[in-house]
Amino acid sequence: MNDPTLHSQSYLIRSEPYYQPHGNEVELFAAAYRKRLPVMVKGPTGCGKSRFIEFMAWKLGKPLITVACNEDMTASDLVGRYLLDAHGTRWIDGPLTTAARMGAICYLDEVVEARQDTTVVIHPLTDHRRVLPLDKKGELVQAHPDFQLVISYNPGYQSLMKDLKPSTKQRFTAFDFDYPAPELEASILEKEAGVAAEIAGQLVKIGAVARRLKGHGLDEGISTRLLVYAASLIEDGVAPQDACRMALAAPITDDADIRATLEHAIRSTFA
Ligand SMILES: Nc1ncnc2c1ncn2[C@@H]1O[C@H](COP(=O)(O)OP(=O)(O)OP(=O)(O)O)[C@@H](O)[C@H]1O
Ligand SMILES: [Mg+2]
Repeated sequence: MNDPTLHSQSYLIRSEPYYQPHGNEVELFAAAYRKRLPVMVKGPTGCGKSRFIEFMAWKLGKPLITVACNEDMTASDLVGRYLLDAHGTRWIDGPLTTAARMGAICYLDEVVEARQDTTVVIHPLTDHRRVLPLDKKGELVQAHPDFQLVISYNPGYQSLMKDLKPSTKQRFTAFDFDYPAPELEASILEKEAGVAAEIAGQLVKIGAVARRLKGHGLDEGISTRLLVYAASLIEDGVAPQDACRMALAAPITDDADIRATLEHAIRSTFA
């Protein structure tokens, strides 16, 4: 477990993930990686943040270790802990420590969900020191030269309480992500779900209707992810209106007025 060279292979991404760039983010990320600058990717749910990081890890040929953060997560969940087994106690590295030793890209997904005392463990890794103190073990891990830290978060529905501390934020370079532009999003639906251009365009239009409702009763518009779901159902032979109800309208709201607006958009688009 503590020999990072043994299993770094298993964190490599073997085949190229499909990623449609929005702009020059691929080049900019590569530059940040060359300088080993920590990166933060901000944007609404389902807009392509994780896919982008998977693509970059593949492109850079680096192992990727992803951690889904949540509010119950403690620093030990990231860093590691002693476990008791039949042979006594033994130290088990957490995913952040594994990534730092191995020289992986460590992707902390939804990092604001984690408590602030958890997020501060990344501080010494994200400045010139590039170290990770394992307090309980009494070890100071010097990060591998290839190690990079990436975090993502959704600024849309974060309460102020849950925002990142300035001292955490200001350790990162950042990308502002949003849903892809209509033509781009349609081409993503064609590639991901295998639907015809016309269907893709129609789904993107329904997405646009829902996104205009953001702040008027909807916390988030329909994500690219949900549009991909709808497209996949249609590709499988589900009637477009049913696919849209199931993948686009029902998941995002229980509000009768918003449902009615979406229903209207679905009926008029797929009449
Ligand atoms: N630029 C893109 N290129 C290719 N596929 C994309 C792109 N953007 C979104 N997608 C599609 O949308 C889906 C959701 O994207 P992804 O999982 O990266 O979202 P996310 O931003 O990480 O969301 P969350 O914040 O909920 O984790 C992907 O599985 C993929 O099908
Ligand atoms: Mg994600």
